[in-house]
Amino acid sequence: MNILGIETSCDETAAAIVRDGREVLSSVVYTQIPLHRPYGGVVPEIASRAHIEKIGAVVGEAMKQADGIDAVAVTYGPGLSPALLVGLNAAKGLACARGIPLIGINHIEAHLHTPFLYDAGDDASHLPDPQTCMPVLGLAISGGNTMWVDMPAYGKYEVVGETLDDAAGEAFDKAAKLLGLGYPGGLTMDRISAAYRARFPDEPLVPFPKGRPRDGVAALSGLSADLCVSFSGLKTALLRHVQRHPELLGAKDGARDFGGYVVTDAVAHVVASYQEAIVAAVAERTRAALRRKPYRAFVLGGGVSLNSRLRVVLAEVARDAGVPLLMAKPKYTGDNGAMIAGLAYYRRNRVDDALSFDVDPCLQVGD
Ligand code: KG4
Repeated sequence: MNILGIETSCDETAAAIVRDGREVLSSVVYTQIPLHRPYGGVVPEIASRAHIEKIGAVVGEAMKQADGIDAVAVTYGPGLSPALLVGLNAAKGLACARGIPLIGINHIEAHLHTPFLYDAGDDASHLPDPQTCMPVLGLAISGGNTMWVDMPAYGKYEVVGETLDDAAGEAFDKAAKLLGLGYPGGLTMDRISAAYRARFPDEPLVPFPKGRPRDGVAALSGLSADLCVSFSGLKTALLRHVQRHPELLGAKDGARDFGGYVVTDAVAHVVASYQEAIVAAVAERTRAALRRKPYRAFVLGGGVSLNSRLRVVLAEVARDAGVPLLMAKPKYTGDNGAMIAGLAYYRRNRVDDALSFDVDPCLQVGD
């Protein structure tokens, strides 16, 4: 069964065709990042207009590379309403015109499907089947979400922990903005940190707070504090650090290459310290989440799961817990249509009405 997946929840216009939920036949992603960069964040109106301009070409290209579709799947939440509407309307049009089913997909649940995707021609014999490797712990970690999800069976989701304020990707992006490193900041901070750690392996890092939520705050959302993170204190700690060391901003004397970015040793030191605080926070909560029950796999999805340090540390956490870690191919960590089409295969019995179906910008995992 070939499903076309369409994704427009934020700043990527994406479409893909996936066979039987796993094998990606085509995947086309148009990123709007350069359009939003001057504003230091995603501007919903610009996102919506850019999706409108590109959706036809992106879907057309995905269909050209692999035609013959049996259903259309689309992200209907969570995300930016004016952005989601573009993908949904394109999907509705296609489903009605071709007389094929329309399947609405939750964006975060789809991120957790990415480790199960492979490309046509890949040897996928080592990859477990999502339906037979449950229960699984999932971590969706991106610009919009940081969420630990218990999956007792495929298609069943219970959020067991999450960020109580910013997502990890937001924490990276806001720090990068403060340090003048551009938007989005995650990949930049990853590369600078890796270069810094390689050059100064023994240098102690700034002891930034490790994302512990305040007592009682997690309880308000009905979650255990051990499984929740909060990055607002970390961001404030960085701001205070920069205020105490104003020379960090603007000083160029002695700046040199760190992973392709020219910064001073002092800035690279702060970047590596800040990243380490995020990674340590995520690792600690993951360790606690993996202790909840005997999971058969730990799956990682979302843009921040590309972080090289996070990948190494979470691999250690999973190994210590004796649970196999499944990570997406780098090209499927960010937003894409393949994860939408892939998950839809496992939801093919839940078809939505192509005329009345609507977006749900605040859609919850497990709804
Ligand atoms: O999954 P994604 O493309 O979009 C959302 O659904 O949010 O994730 C984008 C986020 C951005 O915040 C970006 O800074 C972050 O992922 N990111 C990274 C890395 N690559 C992208 N964060 C840390 N390390 C990276 N290597």
